[in-house]
Amino acid sequence: MPFTVLSLGGPVAPEGEEILRAAGIVSLSTGPYPGKTELLTLLAEIQPDALVVRLIERVDAEVMMASPKLKAVAKHGAGTNDIDIAAAAALGIPVLAAVGANAHSVAEHALTLMLALAKDLRAQDAFVRGGGWEKKAYRGHELRGRTLGIVGIGAIGSVVARLAVPFGLKTIAYDPYISDAAFGPHAEKVTELDTLLSRADIVSLHCPLTEETRGMIGARALAAMKRDAVLINTARGEVVDEPSLVEALRSGGIAAAGLDVFAPEPPAAANPLWSFPNVIVSPHVGGVTEEARRELSVMTCRNLVALLEGRKVDARFLVRPA
Ligand SMILES: NC(=O)c1ccc[n+]([C@@H]2O[C@H](COP(=O)([O-])OP(=O)(O)OC[C@H]3O[C@@H](n4cnc5c(N)ncnc54)[C@H](O)[C@@H]3O)[C@@H](O)[C@H]2O)c1
Repeated sequence: MPFTVLSLGGPVAPEGEEILRAAGIVSLSTGPYPGKTELLTLLAEIQPDALVVRLIERVDAEVMMASPKLKAVAKHGAGTNDIDIAAAAALGIPVLAAVGANAHSVAEHALTLMLALAKDLRAQDAFVRGGGWEKKAYRGHELRGRTLGIVGIGAIGSVVARLAVPFGLKTIAYDPYISDAAFGPHAEKVTELDTLLSRADIVSLHCPLTEETRGMIGARALAAMKRDAVLINTARGEVVDEPSLVEALRSGGIAAAGLDVFAPEPPAAANPLWSFPNVIVSPHVGGVTEEARRELSVMTCRNLVALLEGRKVDARFLVRPA
């Protein structure tokens, strides 16, 4: 009997499909955000050996138990907060993450948001399209000489720190879970989040969403930031308390924000963040460039095939419960 892999929320990229096909695996997929009831019926019917997690509300114990043959769950990405890791561990089902596959894309996206805010790109674009051509009112900035504060210097944060060098940014980083050496050559370690918040001109979030980081950037943290500082969030929407961010922007507590992620997603059409000219947003696309999508699919499918065939998978791709 060949193995069956079900991708939740859309198929993997053709390069990933090819890896599954070459291993003799049957590859199936659902549409984006499948409803729970229909999904449970589908899982019981096709009994997949593995799930690829793309666009789905949450893979919980009930979902994992619906297929009696389930041997692995693989996140088509790095953030695994949409999988109940503890439940998977209790069921003895390994969870894989495509760690680092989209790191460069997300890091470039964070830099793009920083640059777009520094150059007031959103307003300037609208101005020219509206027939304007007035340069005197322009108040652009350089990144050079500013302090970038990275919260979470893992795969993505490390690339951001490296890319920041040629811009002349000075980088400091806060990450309580890594060795001093892992901060690398481009970032100065700070041991307190508040130190980073009070020193940085740009705060860029690159930590995972955990019980500890949920709401970590709330009213108190925003008040610790400089009034002319900007906040960049390409991590997870829930790391920032959105009502507190709205209040900080409204009161001038911080200068601007660049956001790729929201809580919830998709955000409400009437989100108060849309009213601020000093906020630039994108629809959680930091990690989904063509290159990253290909790399994510290849990494996910390679690791899944290895796991299903009983070969060793590098420990950095295996997600452990907190
Ligand atoms: N916008 C997107 O499209 C996109 C794409 C990929 C990943 N992400 C998000 O970015 C996050 C980081 O991805 P990564 O590949 O760099 O992961 P990673 O695991 O390589 O790095 C995360 C780092 O955050 C650190 N960390 C954990 N808790 C922390 C805390 N309380 N304070 C400070 N640091 C903390 C960890 O020690 C680790 O070094 C993911 O978890 C995901 O949520 C977003």
